[in-house]
Amino acid sequence: MFDLIIRQANLPDGRKGIDIAIAGGKIAEVAPRIAAEAGEEIDATGRLVTPPFIDPHFHMDATLSLGLPRMNRSGTLLEGIALWGELRPSLTVDALVSRALKYCDLAVTQGLLAVRTHVDTSDPRLVTVEAMLEVKRRVAPYLDLQLVAFPQDGYYRAQDGVAALNRALDMGVDIVGGIPHFERTMEEGRASVQALCRIAADRGLPVDMHCDETDDPLSRHVETLAAETIRFGLQGRVAGSHLTSMHSMDNYYVSKLIPLMAEAGMNVIPNPLINIMLQGRHDTYPKRRGMTRVKEMMAAGLNVSFGHDCVMDPWYSMGSGDMLEVGHMAIHVAQMAGLDEKSAIFQALTTNSARTMGLEDYGLDRGCNADLVICQARDAAEALRLKAVKLVVIRRGKVIARTAPRLGQLFLDTRPAAIDPSIGFAPEY
Ligand code: FE2
Repeated sequence: MFDLIIRQANLPDGRKGIDIAIAGGKIAEVAPRIAAEAGEEIDATGRLVTPPFIDPHFHMDATLSLGLPRMNRSGTLLEGIALWGELRPSLTVDALVSRALKYCDLAVTQGLLAVRTHVDTSDPRLVTVEAMLEVKRRVAPYLDLQLVAFPQDGYYRAQDGVAALNRALDMGVDIVGGIPHFERTMEEGRASVQALCRIAADRGLPVDMHCDETDDPLSRHVETLAAETIRFGLQGRVAGSHLTSMHSMDNYYVSKLIPLMAEAGMNVIPNPLINIMLQGRHDTYPKRRGMTRVKEMMAAGLNVSFGHDCVMDPWYSMGSGDMLEVGHMAIHVAQMAGLDEKSAIFQALTTNSARTMGLEDYGLDRGCNADLVICQARDAAEALRLKAVKLVVIRRGKVIARTAPRLGQLFLDTRPAAIDPSIGFAPEY
C-alpha cells in the first residue's frame, strides 16, 4: 500500500505510460504498471511528469520592488544598480520578507521548488541578509532556498564591502559571491576573485559569482575564476553566473578558455531573459545578443543551468517565476531548436540545476524525494513550447499546489467546443 500513485505519466527522458508510486515522502517505485493500491491516485495520462524546476540564480531581496522608488529609465544594468542603491536605505526586514514570501508562493504554483538567491551585502546594516535568512527558515517545508553573499556594489569598491560580506557569511549565508567586473579596475576585479575564492576555501563554502556581466570582450575574470578554482581545489563547487562577455570574445581566446573552465568543473549559469534584455545596450546595429556560449559549453561537458535572475525589479520589469519561460528564451537566444537541443535545455532547468545547487535525492529514481510536477504538456519539448501550466505540484509526496488546465472554449458550429493547447482539442471538456 503506497501513499500516492501517479498513473500513466510521460517522463522527460521520453518514457511513456509510467506509474510512479510514493511512500513516506520518497519515490518507492517507477514502472509501466504498478499493481498496487494507494491512499490517493492521480491520473497523468498523456501528461509530462518531471522533477521540480530549479532556479540557480535569483535576487529575492529585490523581487517585486518594481517602481520603487522609480522606474529604470535607460533600461540598463548600470542604472538598475544605481536605482537599487537609491532604494536600499529604505529597505526594511518586514517588507523584504513579505515580498519574498509572495514570490515563493508564485514559484510553488510554477513547480519551482529550489532557488539560489544572491543577497546584497553592500549595506552594512545587512537587513537583506537578516530578511533572507528568515525567508529561508519560513519556506523550508516547501522550497529549498540557498543564499549567496553578493557584494552588489563591489567587494573592494563598496565602503566596508569586505567586512560586510564576511559578516553575512558569519550570519549563516551559504555561498560566497562576487562581482569582479564591477570593481574599480581589472586588477581589483582579479584581486577580488582571488580573495573570495580563498575565503570559500578557508570556510569550506561554494562560490557563485556574477562574472563578466558585460559586453566587454576584455572582461576575462572567468579565466581567473577557473584558475583560482583549480588552485584552491574547489573543482565542482564554483559557479560562474552570466559570463556574457564570452559572447563578444575572440574565438581563438575562447578555444583556450572553455577547456580551462571544464578542467575547473565550473558550473555555468546564463540568465537568458536578463541577458537578452540588458546586453548590447551600447550597440547600435547590428546588436549583440549577449548570452554566453551555451551550445559550445554543453559540448565541452560543462554543467550549464539557467537562472531567472530577476522578476519585477530595478533590472527587469517582466518575469513570472516560470522556468519554462527562461528555457523558452534560451532556445531562441542560443538557437537550440533541435529536438535533442530542447531536451538539453529542459535538463538544464532541472537536473543540471540540481547539480549546480548540490541538491540531494533529486530526480525520478527510486529513493529520490517525491517532489514532482505534472505539466499540461505531453513531453519536455511541448512544455517548453507552451510554457505549460503546472497542473499539480507535489512536495515530499503531498500535493502543495494545483492550477486548472488552460482551455479555450470555441463557439463555432463546425469546430470542437474546446481547445487544450497541448493535445490540440478536447471536446470532452
Ligand atoms: Fe544576478
